[in-house]
Amino acid sequence: MGCLALYYLALLLLLVALSSWAASTPIEKSFRGCMLSQPGSYSQEYYETAMLSSTSSLYSQVLDSFQQNPRWLNSTRKPLLIMTPLNESEIQAAIFCSRKLGLQIRVRSGGHDYEGLSYLCETPFIMIDLSRLNSIQINLSDETAWVQSGATLGELYYKIAKESQIHGFPAGLCPSVGLGGHISGGGFGTMVRKYGLAADQVIDAFLIDVNGRLFDREKMGEDLFWAIRGGGGGGSFGVVLAWKIRLVRVPPIVTVFNIHTTLKEGASELIHKWQYIAHKLHEDLFIRVIAQNNGGKPERVTASFNSLFLGGVDRLIPLMNESFPELGLQAKDCIELSWIQSALYFAGYQKGDPLELLLDRITTYKSSFKAKSDFVKEPIPKTALEGVWKRLVEEEALALLIMDPFGGKMDEISESEVPFPHRKGNLYNIQYMVKWDENGIGASKRHIRWIIRLYRDMASYVSSSPRAAYFNYRDLDLGTNKLNTSAWGFKYFKGNFKRLAQIKTKVDPQNFFSNEQSIPLLSSLPTST
Ligand SMILES: Cc1cc2nc3c(=O)[nH]c(=O)nc-3n(C[C@H](O)[C@H](O)[C@H](O)COP(=O)(O)OP(=O)(O)OC[C@H]3O[C@@H](n4cnc5c(N)ncnc54)[C@H](O)[C@@H]3O)c2cc1C
Ligand SMILES: *[C@@H]1O[C@H](CO)[C@@H](O)[C@H](O)[C@H]1NC(C)=O
Ligand SMILES: *[C@@H]1O[C@H](CO)[C@@H](O)[C@H](O)[C@H]1NC(C)=O
Ligand SMILES: *[C@@H]1O[C@H](CO)[C@@H](O)[C@H](O)[C@H]1NC(C)=O
Ligand SMILES: *[C@@H]1O[C@H](CO)[C@@H](O)[C@H](O)[C@H]1NC(C)=O
Ligand SMILES: *[C@@H]1O[C@H](CO)[C@@H](O)[C@H](O)[C@H]1NC(C)=O
Repeated sequence: MGCLALYYLALLLLLVALSSWAASTPIEKSFRGCMLSQPGSYSQEYYETAMLSSTSSLYSQVLDSFQQNPRWLNSTRKPLLIMTPLNESEIQAAIFCSRKLGLQIRVRSGGHDYEGLSYLCETPFIMIDLSRLNSIQINLSDETAWVQSGATLGELYYKIAKESQIHGFPAGLCPSVGLGGHISGGGFGTMVRKYGLAADQVIDAFLIDVNGRLFDREKMGEDLFWAIRGGGGGGSFGVVLAWKIRLVRVPPIVTVFNIHTTLKEGASELIHKWQYIAHKLHEDLFIRVIAQNNGGKPERVTASFNSLFLGGVDRLIPLMNESFPELGLQAKDCIELSWIQSALYFAGYQKGDPLELLLDRITTYKSSFKAKSDFVKEPIPKTALEGVWKRLVEEEALALLIMDPFGGKMDEISESEVPFPHRKGNLYNIQYMVKWDENGIGASKRHIRWIIRLYRDMASYVSSSPRAAYFNYRDLDLGTNKLNTSAWGFKYFKGNFKRLAQIKTKVDPQNFFSNEQSIPLLSSLPTST
């Protein structure tokens, strides 16, 4: 959704204002009264445009259009009110009033949370949707930018490219992902081997804490600043308003390729070989693998070797010939383009498509999905890979594995630099995903059972003690706070989990910012750790 659409939305909000006010419930009235009495507060008129109750005709539209997993569309755990703030004082007031009235809040930036935690909650809650807080200010003289959390990756990439041909930002591939959630969990994409994570580039931030105080890095202190850069800032420590990030240098011309292979053409051997080299390649070269079933027959399983090279074809071909000759890459398989066009390419568009497509916040085609993740430390034997293909063909819906190589810069950053701990020693990350279009609980259960079986099969080939997982590929099967288990925390954060709990206990001792997988208070961690 572009800027025009947002203005249109604001106009509609105005139009529905009065009707929504008429039908409000007692708790909504109390919340409204509280909000209107807050310092620096709103006119009644403005309040109506910024708060949507469930009787508002826009409520469902705003709730559903920015969420990415239709699996949750029929949830009964919907917000009492949706707030679409334009500035920090509204958020400060909402935190104050939610605490006063015993309500929870959920913060949503891009709405991509795999388990819907940014817009679902079991107890009455206010959802703060940050999509209107999406300004981006780039400063080329010191190669930094201030980006509000509600901005998307696509908006950031687009804005950078408008101002410079030689700057970029190392973050995820999907343009509609929000910077609020993405950086709060790490964030990696096609430049991870050269520059590391999105969270590694953060040099300052604005955060509103549980007492409504607005902190920058200096005011929040280094502990809290450490925690929010990948430690599930999302729903644990406060509301991040904006990040100050370092931009990175990209060459004016980069190269992409996507080589498809089938099992018959030796996909297994190629993937097997890829495991030994992908993390050791020149750091300008990123080659990921996507293996997918394409509908239930072994001959339909494909593996794609999908690559970004930070340089021209001339340099790439000899490099590939030297390090991965088995793939047989030739110049005709390659496309040279600008970095921003490569962002469009990895988002699934073609070279000539308009860059403005990166600004779309709303994905028109969405399937329900369930995902899980692993980190691989030793190459997986060929026989085990063959077992994976067998599993893939058992599933009739779209099932895939996305394997993202690490190494390079990731090996140079210590495990405790930011809360994301999966650095040196990890060859690659696997994301398992199944996507389906049928509705209903029965279908969900069937597909989820399938992915659980695949995940079980993989146990002996991936990291162990803990079996690590990537926080941004959120998976509630790993455990939740409700069950008072903390195993999930060690899987996402390893040795950093305890420090996160210490910081949490200091900055939010009443555990106001909480969800199924928010950082718990120290008192609920096992004492032996
Ligand atoms: C289609 C798709 C593609 C993806 N591709 C990649 C990829 O290439 N690389 C990668 O690393 N990840 C990828 N992801 C995962 C993505 O990084 C995470 O889902 C991320 O958390 C999404 O951020 P969001 O703001 O869009 O989500 P949201 O659902 O808005 O938020 C996620 C979590 O963060 C919290 N949160 C959000 N904003 C704030 C804030 N401002 N302050 C405090 N808490 C906040 C929410 O409450 C929630 O708990 C992808 C996800 C999808 C659905
Ligand atoms: C925030 O927005 C409200 C409503 O427009 C306005 O009354 C208030 O002055 C604004 N506060 C700041 C700090 O900009
Ligand atoms: C951009 O960065 C330079 C160098 O740090 C600084 O002097 C300048 O004030 C910044 N510009 C803006 C608009 O913040
Ligand atoms: C690839 O390497 C081989 C042997 O190292 C060499 O003979 C051949 O010319 C190279 N091909 C290209 C396209 O660089
Ligand atoms: C939601 O419920 C409606 C009505 O029961 C049903 O038609 C629809 O298929 C459901 N959607 C999903 C995604 O389960
Ligand atoms: C959770 O478990 C820890 C130890 O594992 C225990 O000390 C704590 O009291 C438990 N908390 C709750 C709320 O049950």
